[in-house]
Amino acid sequence: MTSLFDPLAIGDILLPNRILMAPMTRARGTRQHVPLPRMVDYYAQRAGAGLIISEAAPISLHGAGWPYSPGLWTEEQTEAWKPVTQAVHAAGGRIFAQLWHMGRVVHPAMSGEQPVSASATTAPGEAHTYEGRQPYAEARPLRVDEVPALIADYVRAARNAIAAGFDGVQLHAANGYLIDQFLRDSSNLRTDEYGGSIENRTRLLLEVTRALAEAVGPQRTSVRLSPNGDSQGVIDSNPEPLFTHAVRELDKIGIAFLELREPRGDAITQPPISPAIRANFSGVLVLNSDYTPQEAAEAVESGKADAVSFGRLFIANPDLPERIRRALPLAEPKPAATWYSQEDEGYADYPSYEAAA
Ligand SMILES: Cc1cc2nc3c(=O)[nH]c(=O)nc-3n(C[C@H](O)[C@H](O)[C@H](O)COP(=O)(O)O)c2cc1C
Repeated sequence: MTSLFDPLAIGDILLPNRILMAPMTRARGTRQHVPLPRMVDYYAQRAGAGLIISEAAPISLHGAGWPYSPGLWTEEQTEAWKPVTQAVHAAGGRIFAQLWHMGRVVHPAMSGEQPVSASATTAPGEAHTYEGRQPYAEARPLRVDEVPALIADYVRAARNAIAAGFDGVQLHAANGYLIDQFLRDSSNLRTDEYGGSIENRTRLLLEVTRALAEAVGPQRTSVRLSPNGDSQGVIDSNPEPLFTHAVRELDKIGIAFLELREPRGDAITQPPISPAIRANFSGVLVLNSDYTPQEAAEAVESGKADAVSFGRLFIANPDLPERIRRALPLAEPKPAATWYSQEDEGYADYPSYEAAA
């Protein structure tokens, strides 16, 4: 029986355990989206994770809708990530960079332009900007002749990530952002080759993934999907055929691993479809959302998942794998206001169990 502490091969690297750190936006960069030195300690403290997946890093100003999110499109940003990846490696860890284009969720106050999406739609709610929350703007449909430049932005960010010392990249195709806006039929109303049928709605996901795999190698390319439920107004009327098709095609590309964010619970209108995805994807499958260490152990032991990624537990427990291994008590995260603030409080100031004792 496989345990959370059995090693796991992901592409060419061997993870010492199956407890991954899920990607988490922490907004501790500069206004120019340059990583700040305080990110070095934060990530290095969490190097005990089997693999760290970085906070989502915008691939272009056009795709960057989160204030202070550290990006990967300029040389300055790339240089500033280097101390982060070096410190993670020096502490014995491994780290992938998550690549982010937010699509319709980017406010023009952030990018200076009308946002793009699959179709002319508006996200529900309010956007984050440097001037506070503002209602989302209506997106314009991405033109087919703009797709090559978009793919080139992803590829540039992936190459920058490898140059910055990341072990690989993860395409953020989840949570209601650009790729997800193309995948699911509540936000994709197109009638051209990027809309309508399942083949058409998965086209952008697969074109971008193939381009990333070509640029940095499939063994260094991963993908995150969120198949069930609503994410920022993005939902699909029939997710199982859509996402099983998507993962069969991702399987052919030979990606390093697939991560699924599948919320569970009463507020979620669609059940997780990871069992169907497992049956259609032969590669490494990482499950996420709301797992307790006990549930994660069961998911890996039963073969439902090869690994589990934890988000919020890693905020408050930099040494999470060690705490799980020794069944030590887990610390609680500070209020959510600290998660995305630009303050030091609630960031790299959570002690390991040993340091707190
Ligand atoms: C502070 C915070 C920031 C997040 N930022 C991202 C992100 O940048 N990219 C992403 O794919 N998911 C992001 N998520 C979602 C997490 O990766 C994860 O799916 C979610 O927290 C559920 O896992 P958990 O129950 O283990 O916390 C974020 C979650 C939190 C709490």
